[in-house]
Amino acid sequence: MPASPDPAAAQRFQDKVVLVTGAGAGIGRATALRLAAEGGIVIAADVVADAVEQTATTIRKAGGRASSARLDVRDTAACQALVAQTIADHGGLDVLCNIAGVMHWSWVTDTTEADFDRVLDINLRGLFFLTQAAIPHLIERRGVVVNMASAAGVKGQAYTATYCISKAGVISFTKSLAVEYAKQGLRAVAVAPGGVNTAIATQVQLPEGADMQLFQKLMPLVDVAEPEEIAAAVAYLASDEARYVNGATLHIDGAQTAG
Ligand SMILES: NC(=O)c1ccc[n+]([C@@H]2O[C@H](COP(=O)([O-])OP(=O)(O)OC[C@H]3O[C@@H](n4cnc5c(N)ncnc54)[C@H](O)[C@@H]3O)[C@@H](O)[C@H]2O)c1
Repeated sequence: MPASPDPAAAQRFQDKVVLVTGAGAGIGRATALRLAAEGGIVIAADVVADAVEQTATTIRKAGGRASSARLDVRDTAACQALVAQTIADHGGLDVLCNIAGVMHWSWVTDTTEADFDRVLDINLRGLFFLTQAAIPHLIERRGVVVNMASAAGVKGQAYTATYCISKAGVISFTKSLAVEYAKQGLRAVAVAPGGVNTAIATQVQLPEGADMQLFQKLMPLVDVAEPEEIAAAVAYLASDEARYVNGATLHIDGAQTAG
């Protein structure tokens, strides 16, 4: 059941500057819409330029404030440039939502170095260096980093080892960030969804010879979440209401990882 943000009810991001990666689709898009609906000035970034411009247009048509930027998070210089542009345009940065991510399906024995590098470069390395560029500015505003992890970061999963490694790294990085910068007022939190109704979850590409019994273990216990439900959690975690939440990973997976 999608959460429907009521801008009149909650304006937790009034005039706050928010950078969201992966904002062209799915959870990133829902997050950009949610934070803009709560008053945020959103810089929506994604490697797919048309899609992310559509996100920004949707926000502006609804009366919100947003711009779009084509960004491949693997390009560290581009990450640094986008942060610098954000500061030049808006004078600061309050919230960074690292949501861009990709999945890769294969047996470990069939995973090439290129497969491995692609998943780790987007899901972990890109997230690391974009965050690095943002840290000094976030500290100035007592800002927040929200990282998109996954249930796959805490559970072993067949046929998705590179993805699991990357998401475990995201959870670990979130903890390190929280500890390293707590005294400087920066918070870092992660969200670990189970199944969410987006392209990543619906475009499963099981490798040949996959054991269906193992595949079943990846399945949520009940239904999947809608992206708006994850965005609602991101909004809470990024807001001042979560002032004392730091270094934590919020599991939103219908008990998938509880057992
Ligand atoms: N859908 C799920 O079931 C699920 C579960 C747990 C975690 N997640 C995580 O949520 C995040 C969002 O995924 P989603 O489910 O919305 O999928 P999605 O495929 O709908 O969205 C991913 C977005 O990331 C963008 N992206 C991919 N590579 C990029 C790059 N190099 N630079 C910038 N942007 C890039 C894509 O263009 C896309 O817009 C991912 O990090 C994913 O791992 C998803």
